[in-house]
Amino acid sequence: MSFDLVIAVDGPAASGKGTVASRLARHYGLPHLDTGLLYRAVGVGAMKQHGAIEEATAERVAAHITQAHLSEQALMTRAAGELASQVAVYPGVRAALLKFQQDFAAKKGGAVLDGRDIGTVIAPHAPAKLFVTASPEVRAERRWKQLSGLGEGVSLEEVLADIRKRDERDSGRDAAPLLQGADAALLDTSQLTIEAAFREACRLVEQARGSIKS
Ligand code: CDP
Repeated sequence: MSFDLVIAVDGPAASGKGTVASRLARHYGLPHLDTGLLYRAVGVGAMKQHGAIEEATAERVAAHITQAHLSEQALMTRAAGELASQVAVYPGVRAALLKFQQDFAAKKGGAVLDGRDIGTVIAPHAPAKLFVTASPEVRAERRWKQLSGLGEGVSLEEVLADIRKRDERDSGRDAAPLLQGADAALLDTSQLTIEAAFREACRLVEQARGSIKS
């Protein structure tokens, strides 16, 4: 019997969840949605419209987000990440983005989604759930390299401070906080190369699939 393979990949900023999710999607031939882009697009859009982050504007922007809004290069900046985590605390914004994500997760054959609340809120019935993490120092170094590659002049210390602030906001909020669900397999990538993290992710997905079939 075959079933739709929905893979939920959650974790904190720069943990490697996006890379793992995109490799898994390629491996299993599934579509991939980086849900962080939705919040980034809402944060950037709300800022453009209002000049500051404010709940009603963010909700209005969230209600009109489509796939076409997700490929802008501006979404990858440090500022966009910060704006995303600010709008992500609003329950109305999360509610407005729910259908888009659930429709994606319901694609025939399955899908891979990465974010903060995929296994807990968006796709609680996903047959495979991973919680990808790494130490704040390792994550800061990865994000710093990424931002430097995009031409952003920022120090490693500033990036580490951003990461700590974002962890606190994402884990401490009331609406769908970042947490490892009891049924999600932990993947700590601190000491792993991309290739090793991908191999371990595959093993965990296969283990989850196996336990469902048996
Ligand atoms: O790559 P990075 O983790 O820095 O950021 P991201 O995944 O693009 O997410 C940016 C922000 O959006 C996060 O800090 C969260 O506040 C928020 N987010 C969320 O609340 N729920 C999701 N499913 C995805 C992102």
